[in-house]
Amino acid sequence: MFEKKYHNLFDFAKIFILSGSGPMPLRFRVSNVFYQAGEHRAEKVADLFAAIAPRYDLLNDLQSLGLHRLWKRRVAALAGAAVGKRALDLCCGTGDIAFALAQRGAEVIGLDFSPKMIQVARARNRRFKLLPGMDRAPDFIAGDAQAIPFPDESFDIVTVGYGLRNLAGWERGLREMARVARPGARLVTLDFGKPPNPLWRRLYFLHLKCSVPAMGWLFCRQPQAYAYILESLRHFPEQSVVAEKMRAMNLANVRHINLLGGAMAIHYGEKARASAPNATS
Ligand SMILES: C[S@@+](CC[C@H](N)C(=O)[O-])C[C@H]1O[C@@H](n2cnc3c(N)ncnc32)[C@H](O)[C@@H]1O
Repeated sequence: MFEKKYHNLFDFAKIFILSGSGPMPLRFRVSNVFYQAGEHRAEKVADLFAAIAPRYDLLNDLQSLGLHRLWKRRVAALAGAAVGKRALDLCCGTGDIAFALAQRGAEVIGLDFSPKMIQVARARNRRFKLLPGMDRAPDFIAGDAQAIPFPDESFDIVTVGYGLRNLAGWERGLREMARVARPGARLVTLDFGKPPNPLWRRLYFLHLKCSVPAMGWLFCRQPQAYAYILESLRHFPEQSVVAEKMRAMNLANVRHINLLGGAMAIHYGEKARASAPNATS
């Protein structure tokens, strides 16, 4: 596990600049310690979330000024979560989206490969109050979003929040979501986006490059873990490309919703229903 500690501002500034999080010319930059392209990416990502799990929720609240809660509730609403629906939330982390789905009455399973993140989700689960009509709180299980341990067509809803961007293969993650979705099921994703306006994109990337790692250092001594957000976003496609991929996978009614001018984005699609048998044949 990555356990480097930053004891003072000098340590932070040194790592901040050398890691490419600071204003160093491109040729002097070294890549982010938590980003590795290819099949071994998962090990680094697992280290990252193990390191930040205890402070993950706090940092989300601080960095988004609490807005991430609204966006996650919007995901649950778009997903059509309700009593009688079976939902899977991939890369569930500490459980925000799983709880938002459950609060609307759905039966929810949250899946994540980080034992530390699941530990936090389970601790929160003990405080979760069942609604009338619900017979159980969310279940949180360990598993890989790229090889979901459920049979085809198991869920009415499949969601993922800030997860696709972290997978070694985001397209593989989408295909897995579609595989476990029942015909007519809704697939909803939420993640960082790339603002279409060039000026806003520059400012936003500057924020991800400077203030986000600085907060990561201040609140959990992990500037690299928070510099990783920009690094991973750079390797993740724009909103329109993700939507195109969803259409190419035959999902219906695909659309994306830009939040904060595209700084965040929600993608929505439905698994096509089996075509009705032809009455004349
Ligand atoms: C940024 S957090 C998002 C947590 C939560 N969904 C939220 O919106 O706050 C990303 C999560 O994805 C998990 N993750 C990354 N790759 C994964 C994989 N291949 N399979 C399962 N979980 C994965 C990490 O462990 C981490 O908990």
